Amino acid sequence: MITKIKKAIQYFSVRCYELKISIKEFRRGSKLSSDAFESFYKNGMLVEVHSVEKGLGLKNTKPGHSSKPVTNLINKMFGYIGRGYDPTDFAFKETYRVIAAYIEYQKEFDTSKFPEFAEIERKFNVLTQQLDSNLVASIKDDLNGGAHIVPLKELLHGKDFDVQSFFKTRHSIRMYQKMPLNQSDIQKAVEIANMSPSACNRQPNKVYFTSECETVKQIDDLITGSSGFKGETPNYIIVTTDRACFMKEEQYQWYINGGIYLSYLTLALHSLGIGNCIMQWKAFYRTENKLKELLGISSHEAIIAVVGCGYYQGDTKCIYAQRKAVSDTLHIVGVSDAE
Ligand SMILES: Cc1cc2nc3c(=O)[nH]c(=O)nc-3n(C[C@H](O)[C@H](O)[C@H](O)COP(=O)(O)O)c2cc1C
Repeated sequence: MITKIKKAIQYFSVRCYELKISIKEFRRGSKLSSDAFESFYKNGMLVEVHSVEKGLGLKNTKPGHSSKPVTNLINKMFGYIGRGYDPTDFAFKETYRVIAAYIEYQKEFDTSKFPEFAEIERKFNVLTQQLDSNLVASIKDDLNGGAHIVPLKELLHGKDFDVQSFFKTRHSIRMYQKMPLNQSDIQKAVEIANMSPSACNRQPNKVYFTSECETVKQIDDLITGSSGFKGETPNYIIVTTDRACFMKEEQYQWYINGGIYLSYLTLALHSLGIGNCIMQWKAFYRTENKLKELLGISSHEAIIAVVGCGYYQGDTKCIYAQRKAVSDTLHIVGVSDAE
């Protein structure tokens, strides 16, 4: 009986500790700053415009759909300019591009049947006139909005690639050549990782990179998981996700979006011949503030991970890190008759 009570107390104290961390998480996420508010405004636009783009990508897109959110978004774009936010920012350009695609799509039908369309088009033209013509041209040239048909051959391209051996040859690396990564390699890795999916295509992640010796040393000193190989890592990447991009019941989605991004990024590094290791560190402690200060990370960004990386020294000692069997992981809970 006493051991049962002891175990219950132990279990309860772990949960209480987690509650303390949840409160810290809430405090970080709710700290008001003009920077956080701007991010919130932009991401509100991205969420709404995503629903318009999704409407354009449905099997049976209804002509005249989404007039309410489109009207709302045009008003928000006016508000955006009025607040002095940067119109070359992705959120603005993406919103503009999708609405332009929406208008192009509606014009394929008899728009006189959609009472709100004339006003939508008029307002959008007024907005366009207020923008720099080079910016408008570049949005149309550089970005795609709306939907397109992807050929089956392209969708099946993933089957041509031996993804299992690619995954199998990735290992956490804890020893590297003592040299900085080429900027072009890190840029390529981020370009690849930016293909990762995110909720409403908000792309709330940021990547901070440093190979500067003193900063690398300070990061090395701050993280907890490098015992036994401190001083061996020549480059660090910090992945963050902006909490201000999320709202209401999307609580903690920053960790989901950030975790997916982190996977893509580490695999992108692997595809470029760059060894890396995701490092354990303590969130919400003094280390977080120091890390943020060191790299200029905003308080509303959640640090997802610290990743050590560098070029391989040659053949490299790696742990086996045996994986579980499929049967330990997969639980098929129903099979349809068609199977
Ligand atoms: C969130 C996370 C934190 C990790 N933290 C550390 C760490 O602090 N130190 C370390 O040496 N490895 C760390 N790793 C690497 C894991 O030990 C490694 O992924 C696991 O053992 C599987 O081995 P593999 O990556 O070589 O396949 C971490 C991995 C993840 C995903």
